[in-house]
Amino acid sequence: MNDTLKCIINRYSCRKFGDTQVNMQDLLSIAKAGLASPSGMNRQNWQIIMVTNQEIIKELDEEGLKVLSEFPDKSLYDRILKRGGKLFYGAPALIIIAIKETFPKGAELIDLGIVAQTISLAATSLGVDNCHCGFLAFCFAGSRGNEFKEKLEFPDGYECGMGVLLGYSAERNMPHKPNIDKLTIID
Ligand SMILES: Cc1cc2nc3c(=O)[nH]c(=O)nc-3n(C[C@H](O)[C@H](O)[C@H](O)COP(=O)(O)O)c2cc1C
Repeated sequence: MNDTLKCIINRYSCRKFGDTQVNMQDLLSIAKAGLASPSGMNRQNWQIIMVTNQEIIKELDEEGLKVLSEFPDKSLYDRILKRGGKLFYGAPALIIIAIKETFPKGAELIDLGIVAQTISLAATSLGVDNCHCGFLAFCFAGSRGNEFKEKLEFPDGYECGMGVLLGYSAERNMPHKPNIDKLTIID
């Protein structure tokens, strides 16, 4: 198996990070890998926002959890509480992928997923543990959404897409086992 395939197979979602920060050179390599992602018609309707400011990460985490706690359905909130009560699992770095709606509507979401996975695999290749974070959207869904967009310098017309948490694991998970039943071969 080559290094790229090994990296794909070894990627897993880290849900308990230690305090050690990833060095800026690696963070930049990871973010720049995201910029190399393909997008429909090369529209690049994304803004990759790297956050290492611990105060802002904490504020986002607390606000997202608060928004989640106010949902009538408490299942997601309870899930996070069971995992330690932190939306970002203590990750010392966070990449926010902001996106702008495009035509046809929803196509930007495909670009978003590709960027997120490129970032995740680039991180894995450098030994940086990571986790996709769709829950990041909750941080922008409440009354502080616009305040955060301003603080994080979202370009006009951009909304929170999703995040990728970065750091070094305090507790490793195993990657999920690929389900071969999900592969159909017609020859
Ligand atoms: C679009 C997307 C959003 C996700 N959002 C979250 C999230 O907010 N929190 C989380 O703990 N995991 C999140 N995940 C991780 C998935 O739960 C995880 O990939 C899946 O359970 C398979 O486990 P593995 O990544 O360890 O192989 C997300 C994954 C994707 C693709």
